[in-house]
Amino acid sequence: MGKPLIIGNWKANKTLTQAKEWAGELAQKWSPKEATVEVILAPAFIHLAFLRDFFADKNLPVKLCAQDLSSYTEGAYTGEISAKMLSRLADYVIIGHSERRNYFQENEEILKQKVERAQEAGLSPIYCVFESGLSVPDGVEIIAYEPLFAVGTGQPDTPQNASTVAGEIKKRYNVRIIYGGSVKQENARDFLEQQNIGGLLIGGASLSASEFVNIIQNAV
Ligand code: PGA
Repeated sequence: MGKPLIIGNWKANKTLTQAKEWAGELAQKWSPKEATVEVILAPAFIHLAFLRDFFADKNLPVKLCAQDLSSYTEGAYTGEISAKMLSRLADYVIIGHSERRNYFQENEEILKQKVERAQEAGLSPIYCVFESGLSVPDGVEIIAYEPLFAVGTGQPDTPQNASTVAGEIKKRYNVRIIYGGSVKQENARDFLEQQNIGGLLIGGASLSASEFVNIIQNAV
């Protein structure tokens, strides 16, 4: 399956100044020589270019992920960020997060279009589902299982149940399944030890550089 993916999702947090401070602290505290995990960061769009240059400059193996993209290719869609704009800035894009489904009314048709836009631009979708019964568009290679009760609540799923659900999803789609929902430095390893869990999507705990470094250095 390859190294576990550890993905930090900043959501709508951090000014550019705060993003720079976080990156500086990461560079100071993390010695990635023997990294046993693949580290991915999903900041706001406006921080992608700075972080890409910063990580390249410091020789830090952090890949970047967009938190969203437009379902349109390009054109007269005020406020949208197209897949093409992101293709030099990120390798991955989160699609189908429960916050996008709930607060922005993104339905399965829109999500399918977003996956297609991502694939056309060479971005790899990290497709979120909040239960095993949800459908996943063709060609998705990473699925994040994020139960609603666990996202941002401090009430994670149990590692055993998360692995059972990940197993059900895997049976259907046979791709890498990661877990998200109240992952912290205290429980990260318990999830990664589960057979069906190939990585973590981390919201709140990724906002602290020192906690994120603890997770990536002690995860496996
Ligand atoms: P959380 O968020 O770690 O703050 O629960 C996870 C996510 O929404 O991806």
